[in-house]
Amino acid sequence: MLEKANKIRTINYINLKEQYLEEKIEIDECIHRVFSSGNFVAASGVLAFEDEIAAHCGVKYAIAVSSGTAALVLSLISLNIGPGDEVITPPNSHFASTGAIIHVGATPVFVDVTNDQNIDPSLIERAITQKTKAIMPVHLCGRVCDLDPILELAKKHNLHIIEDAAQAIGATYHGKMAGSFGLVNAFSAHPLKILNAGGDAGYITTNDESLAIRIKRLRNLGLASRNKISEWSDVSRMDAIQAEVLRVRLPKLAENINRRRAHAKIYEEILDRDHIWIAPERDYEFNAYHTFAIMIEKRDELQDYLTKQNITTYIHYPIPIHLQAPAATLGYKRGDFPKTEYQANTVLSLPIHQQLSPGDIAYVAEHINKWINRN
Ligand SMILES: Cc1ncc(COP(=O)(O)O)c(C=O)c1O
Repeated sequence: MLEKANKIRTINYINLKEQYLEEKIEIDECIHRVFSSGNFVAASGVLAFEDEIAAHCGVKYAIAVSSGTAALVLSLISLNIGPGDEVITPPNSHFASTGAIIHVGATPVFVDVTNDQNIDPSLIERAITQKTKAIMPVHLCGRVCDLDPILELAKKHNLHIIEDAAQAIGATYHGKMAGSFGLVNAFSAHPLKILNAGGDAGYITTNDESLAIRIKRLRNLGLASRNKISEWSDVSRMDAIQAEVLRVRLPKLAENINRRRAHAKIYEEILDRDHIWIAPERDYEFNAYHTFAIMIEKRDELQDYLTKQNITTYIHYPIPIHLQAPAATLGYKRGDFPKTEYQANTVLSLPIHQQLSPGDIAYVAEHINKWINRN
């Protein structure tokens, strides 16, 4: 294996072109089907995708929308969360989680994470106030948060749960799918997600019929019928083409996740665990490995070294949300969320996409070990 590590190859973090080439016939057929039907918006393919993804997640309803961010915003609006309300969420996430809360006029209240990068359930209760309306756990990297204690707290304090499952399609917790725990739950189908569209797209899952009806109206200007609106809203519909692309890819999701899980195993076996922290998969969870994150000291130096070896890595996320410039008005400061801040300095996302081979993964892992040995 070390011999292989001496040969320079290019390991991309993602390879969407190769994904397209593997599926070219089916994807080209989708585009042809939509254009030749002339139905670009409320097409039958969108309804079919909603049925298929709801069945996949084990919920009664799914609503196809224009992005994961729109899914979060509409989820919050559907629960009447707005000015004066607080929503508990972690500061270690994509900006969209907090951004959606701010967008509806509510206040995000941050709670630090554990070593697995997900919200720490033991810190949530002390963050609950009279104004708290909801908890929005984020299933980072494709790992479902430890939800049982969070669901218990929500019940005790009469709060809604909105799962930010943007990164977690196909992941399970005690055998149940991400997106089937909260009252409304948001997913992204952005091109970088495991179930990815050919552009922006997202979807919401719920078991509540009246919320599903309301969200369907909210995504479409508030229209209750062709010429009547029931409330003001804007446009957050999923394009027919994106629904068709997602329908091609959904049946392949399980296999893609299995490939990623096999890659994760190779990393875990080869990487020097004396110098690298990898959050273990617990027996009650099934990680979809949207991201394979390691934590390591001198992370930036390692990333530079890997870049020089033509291995692309990313940092999710180098600046925690509470330290972003627009978050200054929320009143947090450096030091408030030690785990999040530590992870921002040490976390590194390694390539794990399904187009990579086991040999590619071993090659990356061996380069990392080589760098550790030299430092
Ligand atoms: C955790 C999380 N929430 C929300 C979003 C927003 O999704 P989108 O980019 O589809 O708007 C993302 C997307 O990257 C995400 O990772």
